Amino acid sequence: MIKIYHRISFKIAILFTTIFFVLFFLLGYMLYGLFSNLFVDYISQDLLTRGDNHAKVLEENFNQSTLHHVALMEKNVETNVVVTNEKQQIIVFSDPVTSEMESYFLKESIDTHLTINNNWSNQSFIATVSPIKKGELGYVYMFYPTSLLDETVTVLKIFMLIASIGIILLAIGLIGYFSKRMTIPLLEMKDATNRMSKGEYQQSLKINGKDELAQLAYSIRSLGEQLHYFENTRNEFLAGVSHELRTPLTYINGYSDVLLKGLIKNKEEEKKYLKIINEETKRVTNLVNDLFDLTKMQNGKFEIHREKVDVKALLKKVMDTLSPVADQKDLIFRYHSLNKKEDNPVYLFLDPEKMGQVFYNLLENAIKYTEQGTIIASIDQDGQHVKVVIMDTGIGIPKEDLAHIWEGFYRVEKSRARQTGGSGLGLYVVKQIVQLHGGVIEVDSIEGKGTTFTITFRKEVIV
Ligand SMILES: Nc1ncnc2c1ncn2[C@@H]1O[C@H](COP(=O)(O)OP(=O)(O)OP(=O)(O)O)[C@@H](O)[C@H]1O
Ligand SMILES: [Mg+2]
Repeated sequence: MIKIYHRISFKIAILFTTIFFVLFFLLGYMLYGLFSNLFVDYISQDLLTRGDNHAKVLEENFNQSTLHHVALMEKNVETNVVVTNEKQQIIVFSDPVTSEMESYFLKESIDTHLTINNNWSNQSFIATVSPIKKGELGYVYMFYPTSLLDETVTVLKIFMLIASIGIILLAIGLIGYFSKRMTIPLLEMKDATNRMSKGEYQQSLKINGKDELAQLAYSIRSLGEQLHYFENTRNEFLAGVSHELRTPLTYINGYSDVLLKGLIKNKEEEKKYLKIINEETKRVTNLVNDLFDLTKMQNGKFEIHREKVDVKALLKKVMDTLSPVADQKDLIFRYHSLNKKEDNPVYLFLDPEKMGQVFYNLLENAIKYTEQGTIIASIDQDGQHVKVVIMDTGIGIPKEDLAHIWEGFYRVEKSRARQTGGSGLGLYVVKQIVQLHGGVIEVDSIEGKGTTFTITFRKEVIV
């Protein structure tokens, strides 16, 4: 069981909540600053207008009655008005004047109105002053207690706090839900891979949608299928290899025993037994060589050594070694020249031993999988390419198997391969060698009619 703080859902939830939290508070802080500035601006503008109005009235009529009216107008409201003479001595006020209010009084004379203080968070008042410019000179001071603003801001803060807690809870809930939805398939994949490590390769993982998780599930599922396939082919291969080894080894053992014990009747019989031993040894050697090549190919250590080779001569040489086998099955087995320049060599820059093996494997297959009819090899060339074609009128390869015949250990129909023998390595080795030479090998086959293998080399490799 994974600890909660190790879970991806937990980490995602923490990450997103933190991001959300920071963004929300940045936004809140900005809104709060904007709002309070606007509010303070609005108040100081209002104070200036009112102060100006009082100053204008006093400019017209600076007497006790007007002063009394000015003070009365600001009596039962939040604002406070203080009128001073030119020397900053208080003449009238609407509410008692505190020493803090007096501290705002001007030290020098001015001739336009101004906001003396708009620092609402540290001072007790927002204050403005409007000069009385005509008649009896003096100043109209207007005060607005910031305690009122504090109250509004406190309400705003509480509102924001409640909203933020609500939004964060909602965010945690939503993020928790979505990350859980995301981690459930991950946990399923973890369980599936655990089961795969115990040998249950085929896992039926659900694939929903096309996102990265779905792709991962898809990859795990196909990995399982591949592993299952390799497990099966490996078992079949091991069974095939042991079968392939057992048959010739039994022959070699049996016939050499007879020879050792001197149980042979005549020279002819002795020769026959030695020939069988010799052939069976070759079979074992071929199989071991194929296996050795396969290992080297899979490790990327298979190397070719190119030299100038007459492919036509090479092909014919391989055909000569195989023609007794074709004769045994009464097959027509020949090289067919496509043009009149029959004897002209066709030079390519190849590894003769490896390419000989390619021709051998293809011709051996053609003989092995043809019961009656013809096997024809030919070489065709144009300005840019040289094509080696091996055609037979054998049993053919079913369409659905065509794409797979190049895979190691793949054999069409196990029973058929068992009859004919073989490990399914031949064409794998062929394809690797052809590709190492920069060539392309293709197959064309109709079941029951025959098969044609074509190797195409580009002429660049020709000297
Ligand atoms: N000329 C052909 N005609 C019909 N089937 C063929 C022919 N060549 C190859 N195949 C099919 O392709 C399969 C793979 O061929 P491949 O040469 O790799 O293996 P193999 O002949 O069975 O064994 P190996 O060559 O390792 O002894 C064969 O089992 C056979 O079914
Ligand atoms: Mg073969």
